Amino acid sequence: VRFDSRESKGGLASAEEESIPLPRPSVDGVFAVERAIAQRRSRRTYLRKSITMVQLSQLLWAAQGVTDSGSGFRSAPSAGALYPLELHVFVGEKRIEGLTAGVYHYEVGRHRLKKTKDGDHLRELEEAALDQEVIGMSAICIAISGVFSRTTRKYGQRGKQYVHQECGAAAENVYLQATALGLGTVIVGAFREKTVSKVVGLGPNETPLCLLPIGTPMVE
Ligand SMILES: Cc1cc2nc3c(=O)[nH]c(=O)nc-3n(C[C@H](O)[C@H](O)[C@H](O)COP(=O)(O)O)c2cc1C
Repeated sequence: VRFDSRESKGGLASAEEESIPLPRPSVDGVFAVERAIAQRRSRRTYLRKSITMVQLSQLLWAAQGVTDSGSGFRSAPSAGALYPLELHVFVGEKRIEGLTAGVYHYEVGRHRLKKTKDGDHLRELEEAALDQEVIGMSAICIAISGVFSRTTRKYGQRGKQYVHQECGAAAENVYLQATALGLGTVIVGAFREKTVSKVVGLGPNETPLCLLPIGTPMVE
């Protein structure tokens, strides 16, 4: 299994940094992929309903989960299997049973979450995304960021394009998985990059690429 650079650092500094295991994702289901494609729509209004850890686990796995433990290959394709994407999840107050409000980093190799910030930061993220209300309305919001150097080291400047393409593939997986779970999402690309970076808590080498607020869609 490939671990990303943060995971390989190891060593937990405090109890708060201990990682939280996610339920094992299902790799089989009755919702046909054709139906998910046909029904996929960008949803921007959600009910004030919580989602479950099982759903969260499934959504993160769809975005970047390991689907081959031997090679570490993931649910979405990656140029040179260099895996430049990082995922953070914003969890609102009482929006997920069994998970306190905060920002969490998805530890891909271990399929676990590590809290990086306490409290509900969805409103702050909404502001950074040009006040798009869908973000504050969501139960959770996945922020996909990219470490360009992981890919440009091998592919030069062209690698930057690859990272954006990979973000698109991961986001589409989230759309289809959300649809199959009866949830809704919308890919949000309109945001102030520096502010989102700060709200997510990204390092200097990471660039925010897209936001995926998720909730139970209102019937529109
Ligand atoms: C790269 C990209 C960025 C987008 N950014 C936003 C956004 O910031 N806010 C938003 O409401 N929708 C955004 N969208 C969603 C589009 O508006 C949506 O896909 C389009 O209206 C087609 O609708 P559909 O996704 O339901 O088929 C974005 C879509 C893409 C592909």
